[in-house]
Amino acid sequence: MSLSYMSGFGNEFATEAIPGTLPDGRNSPQVVAHGLYAEQISGTAFTAPRHQNRRTWTYRIRPAAMHGKFTPFAQPRLHNDFVQGAITPDQLRWSPLPLPEAPTDFIEGLFTMAGNGVPSAGTGIGVHLYAANRDMQGRYFYNADGEMLIVPQHGRLIIATELGMLEVEPQEIAVIPRGIRFRVALPDGASRGYVCENFGAFLRIPDLGPIGSNGLANPRDFLTPVAAYEDLEGDFELIGKFQGYLWRADIGHSPLDVVGWHGNHVPYKYDLRKFNTIGSISFDHPDPSIFLVLTSPSDTPGVGNLDFVIFGPRILAMQNTFRPPWFHRNIASEFMGLIHGAYDAKADGFLPGGASIHNCMTGHGPDAVTFEKATVADLSKPDYITGTMAFMFESRGVIRPTSQAQDAEHRQRDYQACWAGLKKHFKAP
Ligand SMILES: [Fe+2]
Repeated sequence: MSLSYMSGFGNEFATEAIPGTLPDGRNSPQVVAHGLYAEQISGTAFTAPRHQNRRTWTYRIRPAAMHGKFTPFAQPRLHNDFVQGAITPDQLRWSPLPLPEAPTDFIEGLFTMAGNGVPSAGTGIGVHLYAANRDMQGRYFYNADGEMLIVPQHGRLIIATELGMLEVEPQEIAVIPRGIRFRVALPDGASRGYVCENFGAFLRIPDLGPIGSNGLANPRDFLTPVAAYEDLEGDFELIGKFQGYLWRADIGHSPLDVVGWHGNHVPYKYDLRKFNTIGSISFDHPDPSIFLVLTSPSDTPGVGNLDFVIFGPRILAMQNTFRPPWFHRNIASEFMGLIHGAYDAKADGFLPGGASIHNCMTGHGPDAVTFEKATVADLSKPDYITGTMAFMFESRGVIRPTSQAQDAEHRQRDYQACWAGLKKHFKAP
C-alpha cells in the first residue's frame, strides 16, 4: 500500500480528498461544499497560547454526534486503575505477551501493564501492551482520556483515522490525538506492540538548547496523512474510552467520513531509525535525556509527565569510560520495552516484545555479565551498536504495575538474579 503524507510537526495542515471541499477564508460557512457538515475538534483549551494550541476543522458527511446511546463495553484487561493491587519497589521484568489464539482485534487485545495519575485530572500515563490477530471489523474507536502513542513490535498496523490513513511498521511509531476516531487493521496477521496513553499535555518534540537547530527527531520526519474518507452505512459500533473504561454505541455509518480538513490536532507517524542520535565524543555519557524523541511536559519546568526515549543504533567512542549504561537510581520512573535486537545493558532475558519497570529510586543497571565484559573491553576502538531499538516511557510519577501484570504468567519472577553475580572487587589498600 502506498499512502500519502504531509511532513512537519505541529504544522497547520490543509488537505481535501475531493477538490473544492475546504471553505475559502472561513471555517464554518453557511453552506459547506458537496453537502458536508463543518465540525471543529479542539485538542487544547480554546485559549491555549498560540504555539500550544491544537484544533482541527473537519468537513464531513455526518457530524460526530450521530450515534446511539453508550453502554459499558466489557474489556476488563484494559483499565486505568493504578490504585488497586499490591505495590512493590522491586525491579520487574516480563517476557513478551503471548500472541492470542482466539480471534482478537486491537481493542480486545489491549492489556494494561502499569500507569499513574488519572484521566479526569489530566495527568499521568497508562501503559499497555497489545497482542491481536484480526482487523477491527465494523468497529471504530476513540480515546477521550488521552492521546495514544503506539509502538508496534511485531507486524504492521494500518490505522485508518478520521483524518486519513497511517501505515506503521516495527521501528516506527504512531500518535493518535485525543478524541480522533480510528480503526486498526493488521496486514501481517498476528501483531504485538506497546501503547502509552498520555493523559497530560500533548506530546511534542523537545527544545534543543545548545544542540542547536538540528538533531534528535527532526520535524520534517513526522508524517501526517492526507484526507481520506469512507462513505459506508451498516450496523457498526463506536467504542469510546472515557474515564478509564470502554463504552459502546451503535452507529449506522462509518465515522471516518471526513472529506477535507485543516488544522494541527492531527495523527502522525515517525520512523525511529531517522532519529539523529547524539552522544559523547570525549569521555562519560550524557544523561539519557539526550535520546528524547517526544515529551509531554508537566506543570513543573523540565519535568516530564511522559518522556519517550529510544536506545537505537549508535557508536560509542568515549575513552576511559564504562560504555554501557551505568548503574543508577532515578527520581523518575521507567517502563522499558524492546522492539528489535538486543539492549546493550543486558546480556539476556530482555527480549523483543518484553518489558521492564524500574520505579522511583529502585537500583538497576547492567547485569553481571555485561559489567564484567565492559570493564575489560578494548576502548581503543569504537563500539558499533547496531541492529537494536529499545525504548523507555519515563514519567515523573511512579509507574504502578497492575495486578494482572504482577500475576501474569509471562512475568520473570527471578529478574533480580541478573545482578546476583556482581562480584565484590574492593580491596582496602
Ligand atoms: Fe534506568
